[in-house]
Amino acid sequence: MNQGLLDSYTCYNGVEIPKLGLGVFLMKDESELIDAIKSAVEFGYRHFDTAKIYENEEYVARGLKESGLSREEVFLTSKVWNYDQGYEETKRAFQESLDKLETDYLDLYLIHWPAEKFIDTWRAMIELYEAGKIKVIGVSNFQIHHLEELKNAGLVQPMVNQIETHPEFPQNELHDYMKENGIIHEAWGPLGQGKSDLLNHSILAKIGQKYFKTPAQVVLRWHLERGEVIIPKSIHRNRIKENSELFDFSLTQEDMNEIALLNTETRYGGDPDNQERLRATSIKPTK
Ligand SMILES: NC(=O)c1ccc[n+]([C@@H]2O[C@H](COP(=O)([O-])OP(=O)(O)OC[C@H]3O[C@@H](n4cnc5c(N)ncnc54)[C@H](OP(=O)(O)O)[C@@H]3O)[C@@H](O)[C@H]2O)c1
Repeated sequence: MNQGLLDSYTCYNGVEIPKLGLGVFLMKDESELIDAIKSAVEFGYRHFDTAKIYENEEYVARGLKESGLSREEVFLTSKVWNYDQGYEETKRAFQESLDKLETDYLDLYLIHWPAEKFIDTWRAMIELYEAGKIKVIGVSNFQIHHLEELKNAGLVQPMVNQIETHPEFPQNELHDYMKENGIIHEAWGPLGQGKSDLLNHSILAKIGQKYFKTPAQVVLRWHLERGEVIIPKSIHRNRIKENSELFDFSLTQEDMNEIALLNTETRYGGDPDNQERLRATSIKPTK
């Protein structure tokens, strides 16, 4: 058992969040996803990150059931999608996610994007948290001004903000703001989503050679050195294992300085300030 997989950060309410989890975005094939979860559990993963919009919550539930873990052993995250935002809508969407995930509580529930009604969504989430149905409440893709808006509304601040982060887009200003405000930085797309040449960069190969680690492991360790939660996604058993072997080495300040040179401020995912995109994804499709 890789004990590092039990390492955690403590949220400001005292709840622990495992540093490493498995992301399951784009994993829509049932047997592939179930196999990935079973491999991950075998290697020691106990943290899984899904979302309503990934349309795979049922498969996650099946994978976890087949892995034989008890509910208490698992840290489970889901997210409220843009067209479900608003006070009543969020409560309804939360219950739907619980039903699909075959559970009566979530460890972490996030507002997926700062869509128009995010303040009302947040009020619903605070109530669900106070009722004990969510252990940790947070947001995703929130910029500093969105976090300030919650603060100015006099509402409790999120415990976690899950944002696109990788060496080409380290989000240093937001990272520092979250650190100052006690908000845990959770990195999505921690490997650059496979959309960039990041992992082929010679700096990463050179640093990896010193520690007998791959570029992906160097990048994931870089996140851990920065105090971030990481949820790399892979459907491949060997990569799921590789992505967990991060706790037997550390990077020096010199390594970190070299990796900092990869920052090109390149966002590969959506822009949280793109109002047109937020509006378009807030309309519920008619099926
Ligand atoms: N909150 C949000 O808005 C948001 C947005 C996007 C993602 N997320 C969450 O964050 C998780 C991770 O982000 P992501 O899936 O977008 O991107 P990612 O984890 O950065 O990258 C996944 C890609 O990297 C490949 N990969 C994985 N391990 C590798 C390794 N060791 N070596 C080389 N390639 C490797 C995967 O390929 P294979 O699968 O073929 O191995 C896949 O193409 C998601 O699964 C999801 O749970 C959240």
